[in-house]
Amino acid sequence: MIRVGIVGATGYAGEELIRLLLGHEKALITKLVSRTFVGQFMEDVYPSYFGYDLPRFEKASKVELASECDVVFFASPSGTAWPWIRDLISINPRIKIIDIGSDLRLKDPLLYKEWYGYEHGAPELLLKSVYGLTELNFEKITNAGLVANPGCYPTAVILAFAPLLHFGLIGVDSIIVNALTGISGAGRALSQGYHFPECNENMKAYGLLRHRHVPEIEQELNIIGKAIGRDEPVCLSFTPHVVPLNRGILITGYGDFRWDKAKVSDLNIKPDTLGLTQLYKDFYHGKKFIRIRPADQVPQTKAVAGSNYCDISIRADERTGRILVMSAIDNLVKGAAGQAVQNMNLMFGEPEDTGLNLAPLWL
Ligand SMILES: NC(=O)c1ccc[n+]([C@@H]2O[C@H](COP(=O)([O-])OP(=O)(O)OC[C@H]3O[C@@H](n4cnc5c(N)ncnc54)[C@H](OP(=O)(O)O)[C@@H]3O)[C@@H](O)[C@H]2O)c1
Repeated sequence: MIRVGIVGATGYAGEELIRLLLGHEKALITKLVSRTFVGQFMEDVYPSYFGYDLPRFEKASKVELASECDVVFFASPSGTAWPWIRDLISINPRIKIIDIGSDLRLKDPLLYKEWYGYEHGAPELLLKSVYGLTELNFEKITNAGLVANPGCYPTAVILAFAPLLHFGLIGVDSIIVNALTGISGAGRALSQGYHFPECNENMKAYGLLRHRHVPEIEQELNIIGKAIGRDEPVCLSFTPHVVPLNRGILITGYGDFRWDKAKVSDLNIKPDTLGLTQLYKDFYHGKKFIRIRPADQVPQTKAVAGSNYCDISIRADERTGRILVMSAIDNLVKGAAGQAVQNMNLMFGEPEDTGLNLAPLWL
């Protein structure tokens, strides 16, 4: 059995992780770390866990965590995980770590000051960590000890745009993304804007021009572009909105369609919606959790809720010369805990779908 510890276990991402791991035949939860609920059980915090055999929440010491777990997940706020991760590795260099937060995601430590407002105190971790977007970094994750689980929006955006970057079919300075998220994306801590009367029957944009996920998306799309010899950096316009749903992310993205006859003939596709849909199917062939929707369908949050799927659909807009690409995920599953379990599976040599064969919840 894989012995699992979770720091930040009482938050929404931590709760989802516990739900998934309870259905994982190889995982055994041994340590649940909380600052607020020490001595209590999961069912005291979330009544849905009534009767489940889980350890009490504890203020575990780093030595205990490092010696009694094979893998530790961090589901704690940005800036809180890196000191723990640094110390756990120094106590037990063989321990595996998956950070569902953002402390391992950006390769340039200066970006933490600029976008998150704190100094990253362990930049050496950033060089060692692998970006855990499972479908794109499968081999690297298999050999990794330290995984940066991607952000929820970055998961939806990068998976939607990766084939276009990979085949050089989009103007990298023309990418615009609008995104919608359910309220659970903001976490469980109380805040006025997320009170029921404030957010129900309401939709609003937030994080204008400077959302923290922008450098992460640009970083990863640039890596894909560079791999085909393009040095021109991605310049993303990204506007997230919060909508009255519990869970779910839907993105609609646009960019200039860059194709020339030679490239399209090399790829053996027609430069239209059907051709691009086929290209996406080929790119994600064998990737179980990516579903490319046919040209008469759209991704929707209900069709992925509670599951680890990312649904994607693409259109060539012949009138404007732009591409429209859409994707939907469950922010707590493919956007957080599900992808983290997918990464754990690869890190421990398990089939990537162990514990993740969940059909979506339509109702
Ligand atoms: N919500 C999402 O959709 C989503 C998606 C992808 C990634 N993430 C990331 O996952 C992480 C958790 O998000 P969340 O939505 O689950 O947040 P959350 O509901 O607010 O939960 C965070 C948990 O972390 C613990 N915590 C708070 N401060 C801490 C500290 N200084 N040290 C250790 N633990 C601390 C708290 O538990 P105790 O008070 O019991 O210790 C809290 O329950 C964040 O980094 C977030 O960016 C969230």
